[in-house]
Amino acid sequence: MSHRILLLGAPGAGKGTQSAKLAEAYGIDHVTTGDALRANKEMETEYGTPKSFMDAGELVPDPVVNEIVKAALADADGFVLDGYPRNLEQAEYLSAITDLDAVVFLDVDEEVLVDRLTGRRVCEACGANYHVDFQSPEEAGVCDECGGELIQREDDTEETVRERLEVFYENTEPVVDHFREEGVLVEIDGEAAPDEVFDRIQTVVEG
Ligand code: AP5
Ligand code: MG
Ligand code: ZN
Repeated sequence: MSHRILLLGAPGAGKGTQSAKLAEAYGIDHVTTGDALRANKEMETEYGTPKSFMDAGELVPDPVVNEIVKAALADADGFVLDGYPRNLEQAEYLSAITDLDAVVFLDVDEEVLVDRLTGRRVCEACGANYHVDFQSPEEAGVCDECGGELIQREDDTEETVRERLEVFYENTEPVVDHFREEGVLVEIDGEAAPDEVFDRIQTVVEG
């Protein structure tokens, strides 16, 4: 059975970490607008480049991300969607192009989010996620999976993290409320070890 899973949560809630586990466990595609945009940061669009928005912690204009998601979902036989929708317009667009089997919200306290994001490191080569304290690699600065170099994302400075959180509370919390009002939202306490959070999500997805 294929799964169509939507993972919602603030920046740093663990969407990317859990999506990677879900994609592997169920053999489904990890569809993430953040990674897609980072891979095309310098792409010229009629609104400017994604980089100009992302480095400021602001949302990239809807038409750009809607196209990315539409193309990715058209190719997917089962998916976990991470980082989209981020406002009510995107939520409306999504509901017109696909159905969902599970909508999961990872709940994490704001100060924990800031600590997770400012300490995050990502592999430049394969995209694997680390944290200097909570999920440190065997050798500092080097990816366990592929030996690639670990770098800090440009938007993971404390100042930009605070801006991203503001954008989340203003634009994306209404999306969370929307799914809650529809009665389809399952809220999960995201403040536990990654494997424990994954067990909680699996219970929802398979239940
Ligand atoms: P995006 O890349 O989607 O970033 P985000 O939503 O801000 O979320 P993050 O990727 O920062 O956090 P995450 O929840 O994936 O956490 P992770 O698992 O890495 O978007 C970036 C930008 O792109 C946006 O600001 C915007 O400009 C643009 N954009 C993207 N989508 C868009 C859209 N739809 N519309 C418009 N613009 C869009 O975990 C974080 C850290 O915590 C890691 O270090 C990890 O090791 C650690 N960690 C994870 N789980 C745990 C745990 N259980 N315990 C301890 N540590 C943990
Ligand atoms: Mg992510
Ligand atoms: Zn790597």
